[in-house]
Amino acid sequence: DMGGHDTFMHKEISEQPDAVDRVLRGRIDDRFSTVHLGGLNLDPREARTIRRIKILGCGTSYHAGLIGAGLIESMARIPADAEPASEFRYRNPVVDPDTLYIAVSQSGETYDVLAAVQELKRKGARVLGVVNVVGSAIAREADGGMYVHAGPEVCVVSTKCFTNTVTAFALLALHLGRVRDLSVTDGKRIIEGLRKLPAQIEEILKTEEQIKEIAAEYAGAQSMMFIGRVRGYPVALEASLKLKEISYIHAEAYPASELKHGPLALIEPALPTVAIVPDDDLLEKNRAALEEIKARSGRILAVAHQEQAKADHTIVVPKNEDELDPILMGIPLQLLAYHTALAMGRDIDKPRNLAKSVTVE
Ligand code: F6R
Repeated sequence: DMGGHDTFMHKEISEQPDAVDRVLRGRIDDRFSTVHLGGLNLDPREARTIRRIKILGCGTSYHAGLIGAGLIESMARIPADAEPASEFRYRNPVVDPDTLYIAVSQSGETYDVLAAVQELKRKGARVLGVVNVVGSAIAREADGGMYVHAGPEVCVVSTKCFTNTVTAFALLALHLGRVRDLSVTDGKRIIEGLRKLPAQIEEILKTEEQIKEIAAEYAGAQSMMFIGRVRGYPVALEASLKLKEISYIHAEAYPASELKHGPLALIEPALPTVAIVPDDDLLEKNRAALEEIKARSGRILAVAHQEQAKADHTIVVPKNEDELDPILMGIPLQLLAYHTALAMGRDIDKPRNLAKSVTVE
């Protein structure tokens, strides 16, 4: 049942305020400015001995893991990174007893992720799951973890589950941070930010008409470039994947800082750029990238907290805490992919060559 929407993708994008509310519900502890994660199966003493965190997933779940790694590093100060699960499996990884492994999956059935979990467990590692489907194979195989409570996702491409997974990582990062060295003040600040998310997502969804008009301009593009820096880079990766999957427009994502090391050669009026430009300590750096693109006559769409003079269009999103901004900045770009694909007459819920869950190698 699409509940009055034309596609499941549109329904699922629109459900995000409620979905994020669900992932937060019952988990916030104001008394200690932390969160409770019942199924984590990781006592505080163990949480304090973790030396590294390695996050594994595929596709959109891998991108959520990249943002998750950033959240964990900034709030818990534990070195963390994310890697595609299949790459990890096939490189005979060094499995380290002081590393906590986290498997991320919407379906909980993705074969490459499941096989990575089984290999890790065979070698004695501790593996947590960040999973949407309750009771799925990866959830059962993991030593503990958290459900992201996005609810059923029917559209082949993931939207609300991405947002909820990133929010779940913010909770995990806050929890680990508060067991370690994150201050009460910072804990409170993050909790306040988390509580603002559902209403801020609601606000972003109201910009849909503006995004639809912008999408009409991009519908004919051969190729598009997505750029971001540090926290913004995984947002760019995910936005570029979403556009490819449903519109079949070729898209690339680059860290803004890498532009001058090659991809700047591609910039011309026919290759539009989408730039993630949060109002944080990297604002001036990001603006410099916009200038470089403008100097080569590239068209620019900025997703930002204020109008960007160098951009042809800016989608202004509400500001949250710097750490939590990536959760919000991806949402207008789900709508951009959606309306671009719609304008091109694509079958949005069932893109060619793709399946909702990839249970084979
Ligand atoms: C992207 C998409 C895929 C999945 C990937 C992992 O929109 O749908 O890239 O994210 O196949 O699937 P899960 O999260 O079920 O393991």
